[in-house]
Amino acid sequence: MDLVVRQGSIQAAAADTIIVNLFKGVTIPAGASGAVDQALGGAIGELIAGGDFSGKLGEVGVLYPRGAIAARRVLVTGLGEQEKFDLEQVRKAAAAAIKKAQELGARRVASIVHGAGIARLPAGLATQAMLEGTLLALYQFDGARHEREEKTEIASFSIVECDDNKIEAINQAVEITRSIIAGVIVARDLVNEPPNVATPTRMGEIAKQIAKEHGLNVVVGDRAWAAGQKMGAYLAVARGAGEPPTFIVMEHNGRREDMDTIVLVGKGITFDTGGISIKKADGMGEMKTDMAGAAAVLGTMKAVAMLDLPLRVIGLAPCTENMADAHAYRPADVVTASNGKTIEVISTDAEGRMILADALVFANNYRPKAVIDLATLTGAAIVALGQNVAAGLFSTDDWLREQLVTAGATTHERVWPLPLWDDYHEAIKSDVADIKNSGGQYGGVGTSAMFLKAFTNYPWAHLDIAGVANNKKGKAYTPAGATGFGVRLLVEFLRNWRSD
Ligand code: BES
Ligand code: MN
Ligand code: ZN
Repeated sequence: MDLVVRQGSIQAAAADTIIVNLFKGVTIPAGASGAVDQALGGAIGELIAGGDFSGKLGEVGVLYPRGAIAARRVLVTGLGEQEKFDLEQVRKAAAAAIKKAQELGARRVASIVHGAGIARLPAGLATQAMLEGTLLALYQFDGARHEREEKTEIASFSIVECDDNKIEAINQAVEITRSIIAGVIVARDLVNEPPNVATPTRMGEIAKQIAKEHGLNVVVGDRAWAAGQKMGAYLAVARGAGEPPTFIVMEHNGRREDMDTIVLVGKGITFDTGGISIKKADGMGEMKTDMAGAAAVLGTMKAVAMLDLPLRVIGLAPCTENMADAHAYRPADVVTASNGKTIEVISTDAEGRMILADALVFANNYRPKAVIDLATLTGAAIVALGQNVAAGLFSTDDWLREQLVTAGATTHERVWPLPLWDDYHEAIKSDVADIKNSGGQYGGVGTSAMFLKAFTNYPWAHLDIAGVANNKKGKAYTPAGATGFGVRLLVEFLRNWRSD
């Protein structure tokens, strides 16, 4: 789909479908929507007066100008309540409008920037949110289906703004958002792919492809490489895997040690059977999403490279299946991580923290200013925060925590702080090793985070994304399936980074 920015009035746009908007409760349209209303002889006002349209978020009214303007249809998207208005309402209103346009077979769509007029959101931010809602709502994963749902392809989307002074900000936002969306799509595609396709090898291939396309350094370490790094915890999980494991290292500005270094780490379990501590059959297929953290890191690295952020950003993704075969690691095994710490295996299903332990130790090679890991780590995170609400956030650094909460609020990829209290460490003390990999029934989200903390020695944040990586029902701009959670959040966080 072509994205274009045009200065002018929306009622004059050369498109088959134009999109305007209205807040809930407005009876007389103003601004650009008012101009369209006038051109149509008061048709929008009549839609409201007749009770056919209220401006509720998600609601879309349809009008046919019959020659009064160039477009053959006008969509009026509800912005919801003006008192609560924010960027998320822009995303949702844009998503509802574009889905309606697609349903009606629109090919050339033009829209005003929701929120940049009367609501006075900064034009750049409003544009970004509108494009996120638009492009992410149109995302479709076809997979291996031979008979696809026949949806018309929207050929162009024009952003029409009458105020000359806003055009530059809008153009900039379009370029930034293109990069961000490209990253989100990488993450969604990888998570949506079946586990026999999105293998550790394929994760490595995608990483190499991204690196080649955008000039990143990349290393895809195999079993022997990991053995050379003494990654005993990661290799323990990989022992039972038929698919060869890959440990992905991607570097943006890799040699620029003068720049602040941020390391991103993503859990890349391409399928989690639980291993010898095997999961029940019911719902096990969902564990194909257990590499969502790694997928988010790959997607973020793509966006970071496209944006050419002035930072040294390192992406690490330890990838492997967690399977149960004759070579698989066992409960009661004791293994040694790359920092020399010994781990007693209580459950082979607590595999995420095992592979992350070695990745977090590896991160220290870069002398990072901050390390952020993303992992579909625990069912307990879903119990604590619910499904598709927020990721659990743990951090050893107050500033880092605040920055992530702020980035989460802006992007609506929300993260919520949970405590790293020593009490949780009590539960993972071992009699036979330095630490054990499970703390039992209660507080699983906290004990898993305390386990990871034992392998860090820099400002660190952990995001438990178990509840937000996948979406069963489909929401405004997130079709059912992978959400791509983390890419927009991390890019926002990195774009706001200020060196001290
Ligand atoms: N990948 C799972 C966590 C998970 C559960 C993600 C549901 C998404 C949805 C993880 O590896 C796991 O199995 N965690 C165990 C830990 C326990 C054995 C200590 C859990 O949460 O039950
Ligand atoms: Mn598991
Ligand atoms: Zn897992």
